[in-house]
Amino acid sequence: MNQIFNVIKSRRSIRKYLPEQIKEEELNAIIEAGTYAPSGHNCQPWHFTIIQNKLLIESMNEKIKQQMILPLHKWANKMGASDQYNVFHHAPTVVIVSGDKTATSPLPLAGTDFHYTPLVDCAASIENILLAAESLGIGSCWLGLVNFFFELPEVRELGIPDSYQPYFAVALGYKDAGTALQPAPKRRIGTVSYIR
Ligand SMILES: Cc1cc2nc3c(=O)[nH]c(=O)nc-3n(C[C@H](O)[C@H](O)[C@H](O)COP(=O)(O)O)c2cc1C
Repeated sequence: MNQIFNVIKSRRSIRKYLPEQIKEEELNAIIEAGTYAPSGHNCQPWHFTIIQNKLLIESMNEKIKQQMILPLHKWANKMGASDQYNVFHHAPTVVIVSGDKTATSPLPLAGTDFHYTPLVDCAASIENILLAAESLGIGSCWLGLVNFFFELPEVRELGIPDSYQPYFAVALGYKDAGTALQPAPKRRIGTVSYIR
């Protein structure tokens, strides 16, 4: 197996980070990898908001957890109520990935509207970011729960460009050596069919 396969297979979601900030050149290289993802019509419809302000990350965590405990979000209640749970896993860097809603595809994709492409493109970009981080020995975690924050008016204070929709965040940081990382769980079988 070559290095790419090794990186793909060894990447895991990291949920325990050292407080030390990652180096600027590492961060830049990781984000640049994100910009090399494929995108529909080569729109490159992503925007990255890099947050390294501890107080801001903590306040976002609190606001998200306030949403998570609402009866409406029953599935998230337990996590939201736990003092131990931190949406960003105390990562020193959080990257919000937003997509340009005006970057529309002329092709309606099955079951979607015309705004589907930026979301898919941003997902491809995020995967590049996770793999680039892993290749540098840096921990990462794709964060969907941050969507609770995206629904709040405070999201506008992040300066995300007007036509962009925040989709996800990525936590980045050096892995806490104390985290005993298990190898990736077994892959589901029966997910491939062949026509030859
Ligand atoms: C769309 C998406 C949203 C996710 N949201 C979260 C999240 O909010 N918090 C978290 O800790 N992990 C989150 N994850 C990470 C998954 O839980 C993780 O990828 C999955 O359990 C497989 O583990 P692995 O990444 O170690 O292979 C998310 C992953 C994806 C793709």
